[in-house]
Amino acid sequence: MKFKIAGPSAKKYFEKLLPNQKFGSYWTKDKKNYVSKIYRLMNGLSGFEKTYSKIKLNYPKHIKPELMSTAPSVLSFLQYIIREKKAKKILEIGTFLGVSAIFFAKEVGQKGSVVSIEKGEQFSKISKENFVKNKVQNINIINDDAISALKNINLKKFNFIFVDGSKVNYLKIFKILENKINPYCTICFDDALYHGDIFNKKTKTNHGLGVKKLQNYLKKDKKWNKILVPISNGILLVDKKAKS
Ligand SMILES: C[S@@+](CC[C@H](N)C(=O)[O-])C[C@H]1O[C@@H](n2cnc3c(N)ncnc32)[C@H](O)[C@@H]1O
Repeated sequence: MKFKIAGPSAKKYFEKLLPNQKFGSYWTKDKKNYVSKIYRLMNGLSGFEKTYSKIKLNYPKHIKPELMSTAPSVLSFLQYIIREKKAKKILEIGTFLGVSAIFFAKEVGQKGSVVSIEKGEQFSKISKENFVKNKVQNINIINDDAISALKNINLKKFNFIFVDGSKVNYLKIFKILENKINPYCTICFDDALYHGDIFNKKTKTNHGLGVKKLQNYLKKDKKWNKILVPISNGILLVDKKAKS
């Protein structure tokens, strides 16, 4: 018996990857505005831009927050993971102006805390001002290079780690974390697609190369679960496989 499906069919799984591909946008005529419509729907449901816009920021004149702050859609997704995991202790690498740290600090509340590492003196100073401005008292900022700071931190206490700075050192950072974190910790590496540079045979940037090196290492690994979510510039979530 033949049956009719009420929509398109895909021949390959990759055709189902993104909502704006043929499969995901089959019934809409307005292909041009489809991505912005999805964004508005996501925002309308979870209100992430409203939360974001409530954050008051000091920033240097020549640097706009949008330049390096994580997108609200990504932060709201990470907040969801943090909530589901009931994570209370968060570590971040790369504070910038403090936006993601503030999001995390608000999520974990007074019973939780955030440690954020920032090597730039100016950014660590400004983010401290921003924590005060936004009345969050549960963030501890470490003004140091990630690699040296990680050696002096008890990594076992964290249940969620957001790596968003020092892309060049992503693999080095993972190698420090992999033997020292607790088995229930989730690590999220931001910018996992690095603006497409990871697909160049010879990467155009050192950051892209750093991200690619981590991914090549993780492809061969068998001890960690890995999932790359193609949201924004890509996030790569990693956690330890349960021992069977
Ligand atoms: C993408 S921004 C972080 C954005 C921030 N997480 C947010 O969403 O608001 C990256 C930050 O990492 C910092 N950074 C770069 N290399 C670093 C290193 N080796 N150690 C610590 N911080 C570093 C940069 O100075 C920059 O402020």
